[in-house]
Amino acid sequence: MSLSKNHENVYVLNQTNQLKGLFTIIRDRTKPRSEFIFYANRIIRLIVEEGLNHLPVSPAQVTTAQNVKFDGVVFDGRICGVSIMRAGESMEQGLRDCCRSVRIGKILIQRDEESQEPVLHFKKLPDDIADRYVLLLDPMLATGGSAMCAMDVLISMGCKQEQIIFLNVIASPEGLNNVHQRFPNIRIVTAVIDEGLDDKGYITPGLGDFGDIYFGTKI
Ligand code: PRP
Ligand code: URA
Repeated sequence: MSLSKNHENVYVLNQTNQLKGLFTIIRDRTKPRSEFIFYANRIIRLIVEEGLNHLPVSPAQVTTAQNVKFDGVVFDGRICGVSIMRAGESMEQGLRDCCRSVRIGKILIQRDEESQEPVLHFKKLPDDIADRYVLLLDPMLATGGSAMCAMDVLISMGCKQEQIIFLNVIASPEGLNNVHQRFPNIRIVTAVIDEGLDDKGYITPGLGDFGDIYFGTKI
C-alpha cells in the first residue's frame, strides 16, 4: 500500500504482479463474465482488507496455548458499509466475508448517460450512522460525481469526513482530484489509478461498465 504522490488520504494498493495479473483478467474484454466476477471479487477482498487497516485499534493482550502473553490489538468503534447502487453492491460480499453481520446501507445513484451527472434516487442507511465508521463502496471512480453525491448524503446524516473510508477498484486522476478537493479528509483506498477519462466520462484504459459486466445486464 502506498500513499498517492498527488493526494493526502488517497491510498493505492501495491502494484504487485499478483494484482496486475488479476487486473489483466478483468480488463480483458474477451474473458467470460464468470471470470470477471471471480477475479473482481479477489481484488475487492484485497481492497476491503486494506480498508480495514484504516480503522482505529486499542492494545489488547491475550494468552496463547503456549501460556505466553501476546500483545495485540482490537478494533475500536463501530462500522457499517454503504454501497452506491448498483455497482457498489458487488463489494458487499467482500465486506461481509471480513466483517460478520456488518450493517449495510444503500444509496441508489445512477449517472445520466448523456450528461454524466449523478442522480440520487433512493437511500436507506443505519439510523446511527453518524456514530459509525462508514466504508463507502463503489468500484468505479470516474468523474467523481456519484461518489461526491453519496458523500453529501453521508455528511447530511451527521457523518464527519474522518469517519468515511471510500473503497474503490479503479480511480481516474480526475475523479480523485474532484473528490479530494471537496472532501480532503475522506480517505480513499483504491486498487489502481488509471490514465484518465474518455469523452463519455468512462475510465481509460478502464474496463467498461463495471455494473453491467458484473450483473450481466448488457449482453
Ligand atoms: C458507475 C459507477 C459509479 C459511477 C462512476 O455507476 O459504479 O457509481 O458510474 O462515475 P462518476 O464517477 O462519473 O460518477 P452507474 O451510474 O453507471 O450505475 P451502475 O452502478 O448501475 O453501473
Ligand atoms: N462507470 C463504470 O462502470 N465505468 C466507467 O469507466 C465509468 C463509470
